[in-house]
Amino acid sequence: MTQQNPSGDPITGWWTEAVIYQIYPRSFADSDGDGIGDLPGITARLDHLVDLGVDAVWLSPFYPSPQADAGYDVSDYRDVEPLFGRLPDADKLITEAHSRGLRVIVDLVPNHTSSAHPWFAAALAAAPGSPERARYVFRDGRGPAGEQPPNDWQSVFGGPAWTRVVDPDGQPGQWYLHLFDTGQPDLNWDNPEVRTEFLDILRFWLDRGVDGFRVDVAHGLVKQADLADWREPQEILSGREEEDKPRPPMWDQDGVHEIYREWRRVLDSYPGERILVAEAWVEPAERLARYVRPDEMHQAFNFEYLLASWTAPAQYAVITRSLEATDSVGAPTTWVLSNHDVVRHASRLGLPVGTPRPNGIGIGDPQPDAALGLRRARAATLLMLALPGSAYLYQGEELGLPEHTTMPDEARQDPTWARSGHTQRGRDGCRVPIPWEADAPSYGFGPTDASWLPQPAVWAEYALDRQRDVPGSTYEMYRTALRLRREYALGRSALRWRESGDAVLIFDNGGLTVLTNFGEAPVPLPAGAEVLHSSAPLTDDGAVPTDVTVWFRA
Ligand code: GLC
Ligand code: MG
Repeated sequence: MTQQNPSGDPITGWWTEAVIYQIYPRSFADSDGDGIGDLPGITARLDHLVDLGVDAVWLSPFYPSPQADAGYDVSDYRDVEPLFGRLPDADKLITEAHSRGLRVIVDLVPNHTSSAHPWFAAALAAAPGSPERARYVFRDGRGPAGEQPPNDWQSVFGGPAWTRVVDPDGQPGQWYLHLFDTGQPDLNWDNPEVRTEFLDILRFWLDRGVDGFRVDVAHGLVKQADLADWREPQEILSGREEEDKPRPPMWDQDGVHEIYREWRRVLDSYPGERILVAEAWVEPAERLARYVRPDEMHQAFNFEYLLASWTAPAQYAVITRSLEATDSVGAPTTWVLSNHDVVRHASRLGLPVGTPRPNGIGIGDPQPDAALGLRRARAATLLMLALPGSAYLYQGEELGLPEHTTMPDEARQDPTWARSGHTQRGRDGCRVPIPWEADAPSYGFGPTDASWLPQPAVWAEYALDRQRDVPGSTYEMYRTALRLRREYALGRSALRWRESGDAVLIFDNGGLTVLTNFGEAPVPLPAGAEVLHSSAPLTDDGAVPTDVTVWFRA
């Protein structure tokens, strides 16, 4: 008998092999011409995603928000930001996606609210020690008059992680913790009221039919109880390759797991297979695997993979480690190359191998080699889509879209740029509205030429209408890859290595053989190989050139 979930439906395990497409609502499609993408815009473009061949979408936050961090500062978890539409627009999007066989995952931001959330307003109006303040992390300052922050933690976006409040009587008061922007006060997850509230928010969206949640900063909710000084630069990464080194007191504390076990029970009580996906910047892979134990989340983003260098040994090592770590807890491995927080892989891979992860690229910075970046990005994508497990795509990567690396600094909106004292350009370059039509205003993003971030002139050549049905285009490369991936069940087969040298990786999966050439010399294919797909043309005598991935039957 097939296994069943509580509603009696057969268990499909769809999420173990799903290709999930990330939509960044501000920048996907604008229906009303105000220059900001919106939910009706997304609904109108769903057929594009069916045509592409993905299984699900994940939407970055679209809830009411002052937009201090592009919507990751939520002031009401149960509604839609008017810029993006209204609640019925969300319902319609979910229904229309489901009618096309697409699942819908929404973003949940539990580490912090917006400072415009009614809870935070109540906390500011209430006295130190009050139940209102106990929903957040308020502390007295250090120093004789409390004029120093309670500890030395820094914000991920730069500057101190504490802001001092002004009391209702006009006097300087306590300090509150914000690991991100001042507009994003951290919640106190030791408080049962916070826990109950989020269980209710989960139910609110589950009742509306969503298929899951991507959990923002999942490794940050619980802080070490003594809020001890850290003395090291702040990164979002828990950043400890070796188990025995001290871990930062704000990340990856053991107490977070209990929260996700409770959430899992809620999800499992609903019909269908609803999933939790952890955004947890946790190293090493064995620590990350703890988030996807059988009674916790379903998946976790594999940022170690995203961060790995473009060399055969580095790629071999990260793929092997990732598969082992998730196998050890029986969870699917996930793969990702781009998202709204990192330089797009078509540009990242155009920087010299070994360049440390850039936090944005701007005028005056060393510029990536666009052609090399795209060639490697295509090879990396075909390698990724041939791996077993679940893969995440970020809107625009199916067009080979590069980072906007010459955006005028005045146009930047990511709080990182100001908070870092104009040293880190931040994430605007990967968030530019995407091009649909080469010759339309705003490249077809919306009905007018308005665009909340400037679109570079090169967008025309990347527009969807220049690539659809064009053999060899990046869009057609993705489409074919997704079709073959399904046909050969690559997502649920097992990988077997054939070669893992310094220059070439070869593995078998689902009846296909996959070869990536990282070296300088072309690599011949075995005699009789039947090539099914490749990221670029082969040489005249059928060999695989540098920076190319080929799928073939041996
Ligand atoms: C996550 C989001 C990022 C956001 C941060 C704070 O890392 O992906 O965009 O700025 O959390 O919510
Ligand atoms: Mg709009």
